[in-house]
Amino acid sequence: MHLEDVPEPSLGDVDGGRGVLVKVIRVGVDGTDKEINEAEYGAAPEGFDYLVTGHESFGEVLDAGPNVRASLRPGALVVATVRRPGSSPYDRIGLQDMTTDDVYYERGINLLHGFLTERYVEDETYVVPLPDSLREVGVLLEPLSVSEKGLNQAYEIQRRLKIWKPERAAVLGSGTIGLLCTLALRLRGVDVTCFSKRKPPYLNSRLVEELGAAYVSSEETSLADTSAEHGPFDLIFEATGFSPLAFEAAELLAKNGALVLASVTGGDRKAEIPSDKINQGFVLGNKVMVGTVNASPDDFDRGVTDLVRAEAFYPGWLAKLLTTPIEGLDNYEEMLLHLTQDEDAVKVFVEVG
Ligand code: BGC
Ligand code: ZN
Repeated sequence: MHLEDVPEPSLGDVDGGRGVLVKVIRVGVDGTDKEINEAEYGAAPEGFDYLVTGHESFGEVLDAGPNVRASLRPGALVVATVRRPGSSPYDRIGLQDMTTDDVYYERGINLLHGFLTERYVEDETYVVPLPDSLREVGVLLEPLSVSEKGLNQAYEIQRRLKIWKPERAAVLGSGTIGLLCTLALRLRGVDVTCFSKRKPPYLNSRLVEELGAAYVSSEETSLADTSAEHGPFDLIFEATGFSPLAFEAAELLAKNGALVLASVTGGDRKAEIPSDKINQGFVLGNKVMVGTVNASPDDFDRGVTDLVRAEAFYPGWLAKLLTTPIEGLDNYEEMLLHLTQDEDAVKVFVEVG
């Protein structure tokens, strides 16, 4: 990672008078940025030998083209979505998060520059407005949208069951996605157990408990024992990055349950699994397992609603995730240090402006 002078973006970069010029206020970083910096993931845009990283944006509209909707006028607080359409039928109906193309375009990740910059321009189609009350926590919208998509997919799939209402859920992992998923489930009235590596008490376990959810450490209890005590789980959301756990979860999932897989595991880890048992459990129990990536416009909208509801029901909780502010783009080395080595950081983010 290094600093680079880039051309000043302008409204004219977007066709049809739909451009929105945004002053970047904050940008969060996560495991994806870490992998990009380690050259394990992502790619620069065509014709460039660098990629502007940063996909968890938050900013304020400075200027807008004549055809931009009223909610995105100057002064509005906004978050840009990450993925841009390719050419599959899903992309053509605005569901590029469901693309079947081999190549996908994501700002700050793959083939498109991102938001760790002072200003950016975007088509209004990909810009989401936030109420002023979310100024302090709006940078959490993009990671929340990833959790929202996984949950919304599960609920959408489970409409097949006519009366499905998950009573008990397990969230595997207590990183930003796991914590925000626990939040979204608690806001839906679900009894949640968050299963994560580190022994409690520490910040993440306290955050889980503040939501009225249970925290269980994998260093003290197996997932099977956790399921015996707190389950069976109607919904399991995997967000640890440790793929063998997905198959342990598959074995324990309740009848008619849904298992949501959300970890982008870049390695080539292998695991031995009780395949007959898992398969039979899925058949006799009508279970589903679904993968989820990125987020649709609806998931962002639901994310905004849940941020507002979180501030009402769990005041101050979201701000506690923002553990590690980095002052300015110049301090990108410090940002990387916290991202890779700081065990106590929940969300590392750059105060750009
Ligand atoms: C981002 C998603 C993206 C995914 C895969 C995540 O870190 O938050 O928006 O789709 O990586 O590239
Ligand atoms: Zn991300």
